[in-house]
Amino acid sequence: GTVVLAYSGGLDTSCILVWLKEQGYDVIAYLANIGQDEDFEAARKKSESLGAKKVFIEDLRKEFVEDFIWPSVQANAVYEDRYLLGTAIARPCIARRQVEIARKEGAQFVSHGATGKGNDQIRFELSCYALYPEVKIIAPWRIPEFYNRFKGRTDLMEYAQKHGIPVPVTPRAPWSMDANLMHISYESGMLENPKSHAPADLYLMTKNPEDSPNIPDVLEIEFKNGVPVKVVHVKEGKTKETPLDIFSYLNEIGGKHGVGRIDIVENRFIGMKSRGIYETPGGTILLTAHVDIETFTMDKEVRRIKQGLGIKFSELVYNGFWYSPECDFVRHCIAKSQENVEGKVQLSVFKGQVYILGRESPKSLYNEELVSMDVQGDYDPCDASGFIRINAVRLREHHRLQGFSGTK
Ligand code: ARG
Ligand code: SIN
Repeated sequence: GTVVLAYSGGLDTSCILVWLKEQGYDVIAYLANIGQDEDFEAARKKSESLGAKKVFIEDLRKEFVEDFIWPSVQANAVYEDRYLLGTAIARPCIARRQVEIARKEGAQFVSHGATGKGNDQIRFELSCYALYPEVKIIAPWRIPEFYNRFKGRTDLMEYAQKHGIPVPVTPRAPWSMDANLMHISYESGMLENPKSHAPADLYLMTKNPEDSPNIPDVLEIEFKNGVPVKVVHVKEGKTKETPLDIFSYLNEIGGKHGVGRIDIVENRFIGMKSRGIYETPGGTILLTAHVDIETFTMDKEVRRIKQGLGIKFSELVYNGFWYSPECDFVRHCIAKSQENVEGKVQLSVFKGQVYILGRESPKSLYNEELVSMDVQGDYDPCDASGFIRINAVRLREHHRLQGFSGTK
């Protein structure tokens, strides 16, 4: 049969490619460009030389931003109060094209190099099953003949040498990385001890705030339907207007000032806790700005319901259920809530922080006259006395009860 392998260009998936061929499969190598720093042409040549029947290098950056990052911005998507889901939203994006290729090429199988202990296997495979129900999945890291043969990196290196797979010349970082336009994550290896600090040179997307510029960059971000449509650098006048340009520019500015670094222990879907370090510069700027313009323009009660939906969305996406009826439903509700989320936010990016400076919107629910201490307007202060007394009914009853039970 034919298998479409999600190929990364690295040692693991190169060995998997050759191993799949050894098992008798025709292998189509598929490499998604979602903004990671990679020599894609070198990876093409490499997979061809390893005997891939066909190679697909797909530039998914635009759809990654528009179809996956933007809905996450609308949702204020954050997992366990801190993680902005950079890897979790990339998996359904990668899997979608993988399945398209498999269908087009008449391939019955798809394969990936995710381990058997992680979230990524779940996200890949749930996405594939949801979009291509008949697909058969080959996950080598869950196949005993594979993982018993490749017990560690030395086994992979040995196999590579034997089969003409170019082995990496630069020494490997003592942790594993996953990079895309949204973020870089670092896990495992020396980071597995949750007490050990990350070395200063680990971070590739952001500067250490201790070494970042002493002058802030002030940006104006314009939103429509809860997504950014324009970014202006207030002093330099530099303007970005396409989704990919906007997001890349926010990464650049956020990276320069060390914005969006976190070091956390999180709960994997599979049930274990894991330690991860993440840098999400552009995403962190957008989260801060979006929360601000959203609160400015959204009805109070809608906002409360929508906030709960955002948490639900984040859990679904983390657990791999991007393509599910419930996630589809939640995404639609969130999108509906964003219809009036428009306007401009001015903010300063400085020393690892994002400081909101001001905002304006044609759809704002903010009423300067209504809230002003200097203007009476269409509001009778006497009404507040009754409002407060009604709210106090319950509190006074509670106190009375406490009196009976003898406390106080
Ligand atoms: N723990 C994060 C998550 O589950 C990051 C996973 C990183 N994946 C990787 N293949 N290194 O989303
Ligand atoms: C992996 O196991 O492939 C990476 C970690 C994860 O998926 O959570």
